[in-house]
Amino acid sequence: MKTKLTELLDIKYPIIQGGMAYVSDAALAAAVANAGGAGVIALGGRDGAWARAEIRKAKTLTDKAFGVNIVLQAPNVKELAQAVCEEKPPFVAMGAGNPLPWIDGFHQAGIKVIPVVPSVKLARRVEDAGADALVIEGMEAGGHIGTLTTMALMSNVIPQITKIPVVAGGGIADGRALAAALIMGAAGVQIGSRFLISAESPAHKKVKEKIIGATDTDSVVTGFSRNAGVRGLKNAFTEKFLRLETAGAPTEELNVLATGTNRLAVAEGDLDNGFVQVGQSLNLLTRMQPCAEIIAEIMRDARQILLDAPKIAL
Ligand SMILES: Cc1cc2nc3c(=O)[nH]c(=O)nc-3n(C[C@H](O)[C@H](O)[C@H](O)COP(=O)(O)O)c2cc1C
Repeated sequence: MKTKLTELLDIKYPIIQGGMAYVSDAALAAAVANAGGAGVIALGGRDGAWARAEIRKAKTLTDKAFGVNIVLQAPNVKELAQAVCEEKPPFVAMGAGNPLPWIDGFHQAGIKVIPVVPSVKLARRVEDAGADALVIEGMEAGGHIGTLTTMALMSNVIPQITKIPVVAGGGIADGRALAAALIMGAAGVQIGSRFLISAESPAHKKVKEKIIGATDTDSVVTGFSRNAGVRGLKNAFTEKFLRLETAGAPTEELNVLATGTNRLAVAEGDLDNGFVQVGQSLNLLTRMQPCAEIIAEIMRDARQILLDAPKIAL
């Protein structure tokens, strides 16, 4: 399949595996890249040495496109950016902060830049600043979220962005959603949650099983009233957090409570004190499959739906 995204990254299929802190490492990113998508190593919570080692490892595991994801609010963002500029993965994705000051530096290092944006305003600004593509991520997504849905973002942003590919993410997990995004004018999709439960994902087995057992209404958003929403599965941690949030607890207290909870879940399998971050496409997350199988299934279904589309209305 050819889109502006596949051409930009020289990939077979218009699918980016979203960076997931403490989940997406070199092995997961390379598995996605070797299957024809674009893999992403998440640098959230990591240091420069880890970033260098994983980028080098990914280069030994694949000769296809992969990138890294930098959370711009990370205290060590400069250290990470320097490591990335020196190791030169094909592209860098950036979320949770202002990507504008970083674009030129990565370009000078020969790295393509794909910011994740939550609004029309920031989308326009990153396009004007020379980003190579952008990801719009709706609040259906797992992890840190904005306030708009994927449909609202596709409706509002895509017609405004004419020069670069727009990739849609959040609640997208199958071929129907890829077909829908392409019809909405997206150049591809970014998928996190489905790859979180893939065979190559290092997430704890208990986390994968918990997600597989969950259904549509099982996720909640913590921190929404503080402009810092994070989506994941309801559990003892989210109940405590939301009780304190509703009671008006200071944001600092909530931040302390939440710190380290993603890692506690995905790395240690603590389903009570950890926070299993995952999106809303829960009924579609039914099996632990190899990335190559996930991508082949999504592409097969998207193609069939696009072929059948004229029969729907014409
Ligand atoms: C466990 C988890 C961790 C995540 N960590 C990050 C991150 O570190 N940086 C980032 O930009 N996005 C992060 N995300 C968002 C994903 O990159 C992706 O955009 C999102 O998962 C897409 O929506 P979906 O979960 O419905 O597929 C994370 C998502 C999950 C589920």
